[in-house]
Amino acid sequence: MRVPLIVGNWKMHLSLDEAEALATAAAKVAADCPDREVVIAPPFTALATVRAVVGERLILAAQNVGWAKKGAFTGEISPPMLRELGCRMVIVGHSERRHIFHEDNRMINQRLRGAMQQGLVPILCIGETLAEREAGRTMAVLEAQIRQGLNQVTLSDPARLVMAYEPVWAIGTGQTATPAQAQEAHKFVRRLLSALYEKNIATTTRILYGGSVNAANIDELMALADVDGALVGGASLAAESFERVIRFV
Ligand code: 13P
Repeated sequence: MRVPLIVGNWKMHLSLDEAEALATAAAKVAADCPDREVVIAPPFTALATVRAVVGERLILAAQNVGWAKKGAFTGEISPPMLRELGCRMVIVGHSERRHIFHEDNRMINQRLRGAMQQGLVPILCIGETLAEREAGRTMAVLEAQIRQGLNQVTLSDPARLVMAYEPVWAIGTGQTATPAQAQEAHKFVRRLLSALYEKNIATTTRILYGGSVNAANIDELMALADVDGALVGGASLAAESFERVIRFV
């Protein structure tokens, strides 16, 4: 019912040559795995290069998006610009955008709605910090990020939105959430979606897990009932480890 989705978030990494080589390798694996969807999110500057080698099966995404079609927004990239480069998806609300660049739920909601209006599928990232988890506030934080992030968003087609739970303390630390922690959060996200939308939206929207996903832990994560895929940082930067993540069993 929910086609597994593996997304490689390259963040601010790789030269154009490296990007081309890695995308070429990922495209081969994606073509060989028809039962799952594979996405890469290169830096903006590599999108045009990578587009030439993604083929039919590897989906191109951007790492962020401006909300307006065009205008005086220095440093921003608009949804039509991304569409023109072949992007079908875009990450919004990544924890690095929230915590390093101080994007708040209101701005993330604007970005998400702008993306959707222009036909891009947003991957809405949510997740608590370690301090929030230790204070017992995890679900309250997730709920606020979801309610505000999806403010004024109507959904009739589950294919138009992807959710990603990325606990901030698990990103780039090697400390993955335990299966119980991941499943608890994912189940909570799905329950909240069912409160906000029709039941079929909640049951068919894909919820990805992110945070130190690698070749060694992907199988266990993908076995969880409400984990429908992964948002992968470090392990998506080498062809071999990304391939193993894509080929989870
Ligand atoms: P790592 O897989 O490097 O922990 O990064 C996760 C992430 O932020 C993906 O968006």
